[in-house]
Amino acid sequence: MGILRLAHVDTRTPDLELSTAYYTEIIGMNVVERTGDEVYLKCWDEETHHSLRLRYNARTGMDLFSFLVETEDDLHDLERKVERYGCPVTRVSKGESVGQGESLRFEIPSGQTMELVADLDKPGGLLGKRNPAPVPPPGMTGIAPPRIDHMLINAEEVGEAHAFFTQVLGFRLTEQLLDANGHKLGVWLERSHSPHDIAIVNGPNGALHHFAFWLDDWDHVRKAADILAFNGVQIDQGPTRHGVTRGNTVYFFDPLGVRNEVFTGGYQADPDFPTITWTEDNFGKGLFYYENVISQRFLRMHT
Ligand SMILES: [Fe+2]
Repeated sequence: MGILRLAHVDTRTPDLELSTAYYTEIIGMNVVERTGDEVYLKCWDEETHHSLRLRYNARTGMDLFSFLVETEDDLHDLERKVERYGCPVTRVSKGESVGQGESLRFEIPSGQTMELVADLDKPGGLLGKRNPAPVPPPGMTGIAPPRIDHMLINAEEVGEAHAFFTQVLGFRLTEQLLDANGHKLGVWLERSHSPHDIAIVNGPNGALHHFAFWLDDWDHVRKAADILAFNGVQIDQGPTRHGVTRGNTVYFFDPLGVRNEVFTGGYQADPDFPTITWTEDNFGKGLFYYENVISQRFLRMHT
């Protein structure tokens, strides 16, 4: 099976307490574990140890992003493929990272550090697995998304990043953005039959554009926007709909300027899903379908 899904995003923050307060009180994640300069958080329906790690550092940004693979054999198969491509792989032993076993880390062609891991601690979600309620208890704090969903990173050479993710890591291409000469400016890639587990759009190497939390329906997206506005969180765009993925969305910024998203809807991508192509002259609708604009703020990101 190979790669299953996004496991966690590891970010840096110069104000660990402020970031922790935001992700717990506004987003509604729960703190799972703290070390000296790190905070590990998860959403209420996530089974595994954490989906977000905050680390104190003077510079805001992303340390790495991590994908779960199904088996140890898959992990070692992918290690060979990544090394054959020419990316040196570092093995991180069990016990070196909080909440997980052995993992592989490597720099992808667009400069971000990616991790693959087959063994995540599994404390379980809020509802349990025996006669569970279908919804969390009333009175949850903040937006309270059930889980993390996807992320978007930047690449100077999107075609090269696309080749790595499809040919080496086995991702499938659901949608692409092409310039007038047919060169790739953006790719949307999946392993979980969703419209995207990761997207890669033209921009500076090494950058994180955003990571997104799943919400169960459009009404939750509208309520999320109410919570964000009430609490003075800077909303970037939305509530609106993407043409790409067909999803409903709000883009907004955490207190240190890292872009977050809440996302719902979208189609189911079958394994034989034919790739959707967007042309640059129509991408306003691809990005924000109702507004039909590419805002300058969309181009802001963190390395
Ligand atoms: Fe997104």
